[in-house]
This record gives sequence, structure tokens and C-alpha cells, in this order.
Amino acid sequence: MNPFGDLASITRVDEPMAAHTSFGVGGIVRYFIQPQNTEQFHLIYQRCHHAGYPIRVLGRGCNVLVADGYHDWAVISTRRLDRYQRTGNRVQVDAGLSLGRLVRLAERWGLGGLEPLAGIPGSVGGAVAMNAGGRAGCIGDHLVRARVAFPGGLAREMDTSELGLGYRSSYLVDGRPCLLSATFRLEPVPTQRLEASRKGYIQQKRESQPMAWRSAGCIFKNPPGGSAGQLIDQAGLKGTVIGDAVVSEMHANFILNRGHATATDILRLIDLIVERVFDVHGVRLEPEVKIWRSEHSPAATPQPHGKEQPWASRTAPESPSSTADALTNVLSR
Ligand code: EPU
Repeated sequence: MNPFGDLASITRVDEPMAAHTSFGVGGIVRYFIQPQNTEQFHLIYQRCHHAGYPIRVLGRGCNVLVADGYHDWAVISTRRLDRYQRTGNRVQVDAGLSLGRLVRLAERWGLGGLEPLAGIPGSVGGAVAMNAGGRAGCIGDHLVRARVAFPGGLAREMDTSELGLGYRSSYLVDGRPCLLSATFRLEPVPTQRLEASRKGYIQQKRESQPMAWRSAGCIFKNPPGGSAGQLIDQAGLKGTVIGDAVVSEMHANFILNRGHATATDILRLIDLIVERVFDVHGVRLEPEVKIWRSEHSPAATPQPHGKEQPWASRTAPESPSSTADALTNVLSR
């Protein structure tokens, strides 16, 4: 019996996750639910926990790799939770608002601080959970309050200091507990300056990262004091291919879906990179991307690597078949 039968208008059954992730890969989930507002989201979230039904909370799918196969989960999407409210220098937004939209809204209001996040895809909820950012700062720098749902309990207002924000991490990852809305405190800055700054950050990203391709952004966290991209590059792995997944020639910490990659291709490439970087540098890279799998999922098993591997090869330089389309997709997320 479908435990979400009364939510038929917002529930899809047997939904392919390839349609909801920036990688464009992934298996099928039993239930995909799109609540219309934070109140409905919270009720569904609590109901799943009370029923012991396995859930995953999905933002815009930009930092998630869902294993191939069938998953008996309810995926609750935050995509439609997109309300926002400005009060003076404070901006309160729901978890599903796209980060790009938030940056543009703040710019329009003449409120500065979030421009270093320009060009980072995804939702506010995912960005806070991962404490997304770059060299110029991260989202936690301007976050002052968060409304958080707890499994089996009520929603609670929390101070930023209670969220365990660290380098690409927080207590909110994997939806347990889960962000409902966030409040940022920003500084007045002329809109024109903010616009110039936003364009500058996007330009920098375009020049150094393969933004036109399907990916999940940086695949590994930087190790303390080092750069994952540099280590992968120095290990000679740029251009390494498994199936239709490839290590970017432009930035080695990106794995790209050249068109028909599977999650298994990408998982195998991750394993290969981890092993090779460990062999060459003695550093064990840790994935930044969140890997979702069921116990029975086809796991990427560590395999011996070398010239004899049939599934690892070098590739031609990157040339997306439709760069403009792909770029539009990435930037509109
Ligand atoms: N490098 C190489 N080869 C490469 C890539 C990088 O030698 O293929 C070198 C660069 O030349 C540079 C160093 O590695 O000296 C660091 O590279 P970069 O400046 O590109 O920054 P990053 O540490 O790789 C981080 C974030 C990015 C963010 C950029 C810019 C992480 C894991 N990555 O990248 O975030 O966009 O800074 O601020 O923290 C993401 O989180 O998804 C992401 C892409």
C-alpha cells in the first residue's frame, strides 16, 4: 500500500533520480514527494520518521550522487519551498530557494555579503548543510538563524553556532535534522558594486571550472593545507575515463558526465582517484559529494588499477555537444 496515497498530487512513484540531479545519473526511488511549503514539508518529514520509512531530503540535487538500482526510499524535495522575506538588513528564505536567486535578490535590495556564492548551483538548504562557498567565503559567514526540523520532534529556531558549521560540513547533512528556513544578516552595498562583484566571481568560475558540463561541482574536499584538484592533476588523472564519466581536463576535482554516464561509472572513477592519489601522494581524499546508496546498491568496489583496466582510458579534450544549453541549465538552477 502506498503510505502517501493521500498526497497523490505531490507524489510520484518510481521516479528516476537522473531527472533531479545535476550529474544526470542515478537509480529509481519508490516515492518522490514535492511539498508545497515548509509546513507541509515538516508534516511529511515527521510522518516518515514516525512510520520508520527511510527518507532522503533533496535540494536541487547539485551535490548528490545516487547509486544505480532501485531504492525503497521516500525522497522529499525542497524545490517548492521558495518563500523569502526582507526586513531591513535581514533576509529570511525557505530552504528550497535557489542560491543563485538569493544572490540576485540581495543584489537588487542593495545588500552585500553573499556575492562570493555567485555561480554556485543548488538550494539554500543544500548550501547551508554543506556550508558551501569558495576561497572568498562561505554561506555560514552571514547566516544568523536557522529554523530546523528534528526527526520525531518539533521545528526549532537555532543560532548559527548550534549548527556545527565547518569546512563543507554541518550537523544538517543528509536531512537529519533538516533546514526549513534560514536568516542572513547582510550589509548595505550599492547594487552596481554588487553586480560587478557577482559577475567577477562567475567569470572566475567560468575560467577555472567546467561549468558547462553535468557534474556535482568539486567531487572531493580539499585535504588540510592542500588542494584536491592539484593532487589529482599531479597524479596524472586528468582525462581519465570510465564509461562516460571523465576527470575534467580543466579542473581535476570535477568528474563530468559526458552524456551517458551511470552512477556506477562515477563511483568507480571516484574509487580509482582515491587509490591513485593515495599511491602517489599518501593522501586519502574524502568525497565532498554526498553518495546515496541502498545496502543492495551496486557499490563501486575498489579494484586494482593500471594499464590493463578495460574501463579506464584517456579521452579527447572536453567539448560539450551543446555548451550553451548546458550552461543555461547550470546557471538557471
Ligand atoms: N589546481 C591544479 N589542477 C587542477 C585544479 C586546481 O593544479 O586541475 C590548483 C590550482 O592551480 C590552485 C589550487 O589547485 O593552485 C586550488 O585550485 P582552485 O583555486 O581551483 O580551488 P579549489 O580549492 O580546487 C575551491 C572549492 C571550490 C570553489 C573554488 C573557488 C573545495 C573542494 N573547492 O576549489 O568549490 O569554487 O575553491 O573559490 O573547497 C565546490 O565546493 O563544489 C567547489 C567547486
